[in-house]
Amino acid sequence: MGYGKHPTPVMTLAHFTDTHLIAGDGHGPGLIGGIVDTEQRLTEALERLRATVQGQDAPLAAIVVSGDVADRAEPEAYRMAAQMFGAVAQEFNASLVFTPGNHDERSPMAEHLLGLAPTHDALDAVFDVHGLRIIALDSTLNGYHHGGLDDGQAEWLAQQLQAPAPLGTVLTMHHPPIPYRTNVMRLLEFVDDQLLADVIRGTDVRHILCGHLHVQGGGTLAGVPVTVAGAISYVDDLSTSPASMRGIDDGQAFSLVEIGETITHWSVPSREYPGHEPLPEELLASLDAMAPDARREWFSRKR
Ligand SMILES: [Fe+2]
Ligand SMILES: [Fe+2]
Repeated sequence: MGYGKHPTPVMTLAHFTDTHLIAGDGHGPGLIGGIVDTEQRLTEALERLRATVQGQDAPLAAIVVSGDVADRAEPEAYRMAAQMFGAVAQEFNASLVFTPGNHDERSPMAEHLLGLAPTHDALDAVFDVHGLRIIALDSTLNGYHHGGLDDGQAEWLAQQLQAPAPLGTVLTMHHPPIPYRTNVMRLLEFVDDQLLADVIRGTDVRHILCGHLHVQGGGTLAGVPVTVAGAISYVDDLSTSPASMRGIDDGQAFSLVEIGETITHWSVPSREYPGHEPLPEELLASLDAMAPDARREWFSRKR
């Protein structure tokens, strides 16, 4: 405390997306594009999440996974996700929120990840996380890769939002309800954005967390910020857009979403890279020992 003028956020959400887990074939891991070991990428990402949130003031309250959990919707891939995310969630006493993506299939995801009966119905769910309402809105359409709302979902959402939650609402959905940059991804966009805008306008929805695009980005819907987290599996190299897509095995990331006077979001590289040393321990210790007023003067004044 005492660093800067803003109070510490009350809680942190970790936003993961597009893990695209593949069950191995018994001889080794399943690879995407012949190069990306998605189980390894998720293992590294969760390790870095642990290191990032360990001991921080705003506790990790939930891990939100915004779809394309599995690449081919194999039961084994969902069991892997349940085990890997479950271990970290348990360690930090955090809630786990999943919403499906276009690579997922509702039935095996319900059964092998969410512990529900197999179903083809939308996997919508509401969570109360210490006063913050998190709504997982299933933006997938059975049999298609583009997104939209099934019959009744808009009415269901409006009903959930009738009364405000103490800390407001964060919505998570796979398909971002904003215009996309890449032509081919525009064919796989969320088509019911205006309907969704009408439902959330004037409600307590403060933020929308999405995936699908495999690149960090964002926009707004009805004035509500929409953020797209970096993918855990592979990243779309936007230098080839707007015409095409090119997945690269680099630049993967997850986001920290901090809930406080506002909602902030920060991208964390989910893999290790070479870099310079962090600030020395002695310097940090002397900052800690100073009175709050003295810190800025000492650290910020140009010498
Ligand atoms: Fe994806
Ligand atoms: Fe997707």
